[in-house]
Amino acid sequence: METLVVFYSRSGSTKKIGEEIAKTLNADIDEIIDRKDRSGIKGLFTGPIDILLDKHTKIESKKNPLEYDLVIIGTPVWLGTMTPAIKTYLADNDFNRVAFFCTYGSTPGRTFNEMEKSTRKPEAVLGIVKKEIEKDETKENIKNFSDRVIKESI
Ligand SMILES: Cc1cc2nc3c(=O)[nH]c(=O)nc-3n(C[C@H](O)[C@H](O)[C@H](O)COP(=O)(O)O)c2cc1C
Repeated sequence: METLVVFYSRSGSTKKIGEEIAKTLNADIDEIIDRKDRSGIKGLFTGPIDILLDKHTKIESKKNPLEYDLVIIGTPVWLGTMTPAIKTYLADNDFNRVAFFCTYGSTPGRTFNEMEKSTRKPEAVLGIVKKEIEKDETKENIKNFSDRVIKESI
């Protein structure tokens, strides 16, 4: 089964989880680039403003998700939902099967519900609190999530 892990990450946490999932599943990776500058203090405001205004952004991606049986899509949680980059990616693409993951400071909020509304029902979801990324328990959760997506997708 061909699997692709897609993620957007502003400060590296979602990227770290995405790379770990890809390693576990021997999957390809596509890191989404947001062409709008989200760095620094200014970046802390432009993302939430775009979310509040329900705006899409300009993104760069490299792989065609329809060439994969399963696409695992990851986002940081911003303002209780997915980032503008992932919102745009989901609106621009079609998928065979999907699974979702996110990293967050305190709660995943509406993220998975809204990702599902933008695409389809996920095979599995995984939410990780940023401060627990380095814990052994997180590695175990990634392993369980990876086993689950494979089992559900066969
Ligand atoms: C603009 C912005 C908004 C955020 N909003 C939330 C939020 O609503 N809820 C939450 O639990 N964490 C929130 N966070 C924390 C991030 O979701 C968390 O730090 C995440 O792990 C960052 O992922 P990254 O390192 O891949 O960018 C926010 C962070 C930023 C920068």
